[in-house]
Amino acid sequence: MGGLKNADHITTALLQWGSGELRDLPWRRASDPWPILVSEVMLQQTSVARVQEKYELFVAAFPTAQTLAQAPLGRALELWQGLGYPRRCRNLRAAATVISEQHGGNVPDELDDLLALPGVGPYTARAVLAFAFRREVGVVDVNVSRVFSRIQGKSLTAGALQQMADSLVPQQLSWEWNQVLMELGGRVCVARSPKCTECPVYRWCAYGSRPEDAGKDDPARLSAGVSKPQPKFKGSDRQLRGQVLKLVLQDEQPVDFVIAGMGMQHDQDRAHHIINSLVNEGLVCRRGDVLVAP
Ligand code: ADE
Repeated sequence: MGGLKNADHITTALLQWGSGELRDLPWRRASDPWPILVSEVMLQQTSVARVQEKYELFVAAFPTAQTLAQAPLGRALELWQGLGYPRRCRNLRAAATVISEQHGGNVPDELDDLLALPGVGPYTARAVLAFAFRREVGVVDVNVSRVFSRIQGKSLTAGALQQMADSLVPQQLSWEWNQVLMELGGRVCVARSPKCTECPVYRWCAYGSRPEDAGKDDPARLSAGVSKPQPKFKGSDRQLRGQVLKLVLQDEQPVDFVIAGMGMQHDQDRAHHIINSLVNEGLVCRRGDVLVAP
């Protein structure tokens, strides 16, 4: 079993814990692959709490891949606001176009076809396979990487993590198992100050079973896919890009007005650089001296 000791105990204990502890999240109620894909793209870089606020409105506006493919990108970006990293929204719409044109409007159920969609990487592709099609694949995100590394007591490569994840999926229970691992990683086996005393598998965990070590030499720290601390948002290009996008989605705006809105009159070079980045990515359009929604 992928070299994991006590694998049977661990799966049984986690599944049992999950049967009472899995939160009722809107995408967990979905069975249609399209909203599941939407939720997983949103969850790539945004917290569950924030996604919960935005997911249902987005899916109500774009209930199928075709509806998103046919909508103006600006309309999709309006509904994406608050989630951050708006390139994901552009990519999701591009994926919706591929799904409409090449897959008859249905989210594909093969790994290679999913990986060929814009903005869909190994994590999202496997999440769709497990959650929409109940395939027996392991879904490895940041949280799951951390859980496995700690149980094993050592940092693991991406390949080792995927192998371990795939080997542990209990037959017929892929959906439940992968959701439970994410729940544990999101609520108990958290990055800072893990709640080992609340963990259903601490006794088989190389990290949690040594309370004196908890918080020290976290084996997850150097594992593949475990996130680095987020760069500061305040004053960042990312924040300024968000300000520009927000203004332009409200209404078309003269470039000078946008630069004033950013408070960047004193740093025109940086302001133009940021605006150009949005234009180059297709998130904002320029018509002469005016910026408009795409
Ligand atoms: N993060 C990514 N996918 C998730 C899911 N399905 N539930 C909770 N958190 C997640």
